[in-house]
Formats: sequence, C-alpha cells, structure tokens
Amino acid sequence: MSAPAALPVPRHVAFIMDGNGRWARQRGLPRIEGHRRGVEVVRTVLETAWQLGIRQITLYAFSAENWKRPVEEVGALMGLLEWFLDRETARLVENRIRLRTIGHVEALPPAVQQALARATAATAGFTEHTLVLALNYGSRDEVLEAAKAYATAVAEGRERVDSATWDTFSRYLATAGLPDPDLVIRTSGETRLSNFLLLQSAYAEFVFTPVLWPDFGKAELTAAVAEYGRRERRFGQTSEQLNPAS
Ligand code: FPP
Repeated sequence: MSAPAALPVPRHVAFIMDGNGRWARQRGLPRIEGHRRGVEVVRTVLETAWQLGIRQITLYAFSAENWKRPVEEVGALMGLLEWFLDRETARLVENRIRLRTIGHVEALPPAVQQALARATAATAGFTEHTLVLALNYGSRDEVLEAAKAYATAVAEGRERVDSATWDTFSRYLATAGLPDPDLVIRTSGETRLSNFLLLQSAYAEFVFTPVLWPDFGKAELTAAVAEYGRRERRFGQTSEQLNPAS
C-alpha cells in the first residue's frame, strides 16, 4: 500500500497578529508587555514556518490606523520594531531570508527606517524565503495609489486600458512581485480583515483562532497549516473537475 500523499503546504502565509493587549491585561501587565511577548512569538513562528516548508511570511506589524493608539504605545511599538530588526538581521542573513516591506515606511521614525534599510540591503540577494513586514500599511490606500499610478501610466502611454489584466494592474500594488497569500491567519478570535491584503487574499484560505498572539506558537501554526492542507481550493471550479478520478 502506498503512503498517503503529503498534505499541501501553503507557500505564503500572512498573519494578523492580534490579542497582545488582552494577553497583557489578563496578567495585570501593561499593554507593551503583550507586544514584547508578541515579538518573541514572531521569532518562533518564523522558525516553524521555514521548517514546515513555507516560503513567505507576511506580518501585519503596524497598520495605517495604528497611529491612532496612545502615543506611548506607538512609540513602544516602534522601539520594539527597531530592536527586532537590529536583533534579527544577522539571523535573516544566516537563514538566507529576504526582508521586504509593504506600506508607507517613509513615515516611520528615522531610526526604524535606518534599521529597515540595513536589513533590506543585507538580505536583498536571497530568493528562497521572504519575510514581508506590513508597516504603516492599509489595503484601500494601496489600491487607490495603484489605480492613480496606473492611470498616470495610461496617460503617458506606458499602459493600455484595452489590454489591462489583473497581472498588469497588480504590478502597481505594494506587493508587486510577491505571491498572493495562500493562507491568512488571524489570532485572538476576531474574524475580520482590518484592511489587510484585501485583493491579494481573493483566493486565500482563512484560519481564525481564538488563541491570543502571544500564546501562538509552533503547535498552533502546525495545526493551522494542517487545516489548510485538508481544505480543497477550487478557484471557482467544481470538486469533480479538480478530482476527475474520484
Ligand atoms: C495587535 O494586538 C497587535 C498589534 C497592533 C501590533 C503587532 C505587533 C507586534 C506583534 C510586535 C511588533 C512586530 C514585529 C514584527 C517586530 P492588540 O494590541 O490590538 O491587542 P488587543 O486587541 O488585545 O488590544
């Protein structure tokens, strides 16, 4: 008897890391302690992801709306981001992982921009694995800016409206050149997308878990990837079309 076929592994998993504040509150700790623990979890999740065969991870680390948080929390998040980049760049290089960003990084504090520039430059040559940080990112703004850039390109004769396809348009999105997410995971029991990769997730599978981000780990990621493997992605076709022999 032949061994059962291995379950498919998502090539690209995108995370909405939620629940840091609640994790801290449940322990009587300041919110920033939840974020601090959340950064530790990022390291575990990345290690597990590469071990499972995932090629790209995108993390919604700071949304364009997160500026509305108390100024101390925003400052602490930026500090953690800089600390994470300083600490992780050597590991990214060691593991040959390319770092990319999506979102308006030019509005981030200069120290964070410099840390990002260092990490991005140090890892630019790697092609097998990619870590994408969504920073000051919002999907609607991204789409609007892509539409404006596309319209400009049409006006200047660099694009033709009558031959427009998703492929030609999507090159104007922040995610140009990156694969769409196969699996989007949101922690903490919330079941919304919060302006994250709205168009890129058109055919993604979703896993919403009640686990708070600081409690998310190897077991939870492995379970979510197994759940993905059991799902049938039909892309509009029927099950019979995809499995003609069954
Ligand atoms: C949501 O939890 C989390 C965030 C808005 C920030 C996510 C950031 C990190 C995990 C740390 C920085 C990331 C990297 C890659 C270094 P919440 O504060 O909204 O939690 P709550 O809904 O329970 O209040």
